[in-house]
Amino acid sequence: MSLLSVEDLVVDHRSPDRPPVRAVAGVGLTVEPGEVVGLVGESGCGKSTLARAICGITAPTSGSIDFEGRPVGPLGLRRRDPALTRIQMVFQDPFASLNPRRRVGRQIADGLRGDATPGELLERVGLDADMAGRYPHEFSGGQRQRIAIARAIAAQPSLLIGDEPISALDASAQAQVAGLMRALAVESGAGLLFISHDLSVVRLIADRIAVMYLGKIVETGPTAEVWDDPKHPYTRALLAAIPEPDGSGTLPAELPGDVPNPAAPPSGCRFHPRCPHVMDVCSVREPVPRDGVACWLYDSAEPAAE
Ligand SMILES: Nc1ncnc2c1ncn2[C@@H]1O[C@H](COP(=O)(O)OP(=O)(O)OP(=O)(O)O)[C@@H](O)[C@H]1O
Ligand SMILES: [Mg+2]
Repeated sequence: MSLLSVEDLVVDHRSPDRPPVRAVAGVGLTVEPGEVVGLVGESGCGKSTLARAICGITAPTSGSIDFEGRPVGPLGLRRRDPALTRIQMVFQDPFASLNPRRRVGRQIADGLRGDATPGELLERVGLDADMAGRYPHEFSGGQRQRIAIARAIAAQPSLLIGDEPISALDASAQAQVAGLMRALAVESGAGLLFISHDLSVVRLIADRIAVMYLGKIVETGPTAEVWDDPKHPYTRALLAAIPEPDGSGTLPAELPGDVPNPAAPPSGCRFHPRCPHVMDVCSVREPVPRDGVACWLYDSAEPAAE
């Protein structure tokens, strides 16, 4: 049994004045205990929506999410279900998730389980125990993110989710904080779902990479395989355009056109209007993932005529 098992998940954002946006359009994903899964993809492809659905914050439209063998969702875990505290999220901006008026030690103590003290948790994230008496503004951005991580691990989660936890940090802090999250997850046996648009950092810490495009996972595989031998044309384009060290999400230069509107996705394979290898079938039928790759280039079966 996987720690987290997401199957055919669909999440629509509905608003009264606009057509619904299908931010997550049929995603399958697993995370095993102690495994680090890197989820990558351009801005707007649905990464945060997927993460919020996993945490029970956003209700899925259809599909299933099982965590520790039980369903997560509006009909599953309730707000006060203790199982929800076993999924902890670290967000991009630690300022937004830390209370500016409370000492950080107090904030870490809020969710504390087990015998550790806030000071010990600060030491585990590479800070000094006596910093517990300080306020969030008395730290650097990288230190604040370490505090957010300390607060997350204080709850002894079995699944840690980082939603772009390093993209607000400078380059040197990025690799350190990413490495810290990996180390903490692996040593406690927790799973880590690490969301980033930066493949170069994900490569350093993830056991497995999942590449998302417009609400779908187009390729997934062990990190070394995806990195050394990317199969999906979108993965290849992402690798060819590793973002700038400042983390700005540059669009791959060789990809024509913009990211399509998820409210009206292209027919067939949703990547086909931008794909350098587009074939007739691609605009007509959606590729089924085979060996972790959803692309007609790798589908040996003759597509049936529509
Ligand atoms: N509350 C909302 N209401 C309507 N549309 C939304 C809402 N939240 C997200 N969306 C839309 O859903 C799509 C996916 O957004 P999401 O935030 O999940 O993407 P993301 O991959 O996390 O992007 P980023 O890398 O910029 O954080 C986008 O088209 C976005 O505009
Ligand atoms: Mg996001």
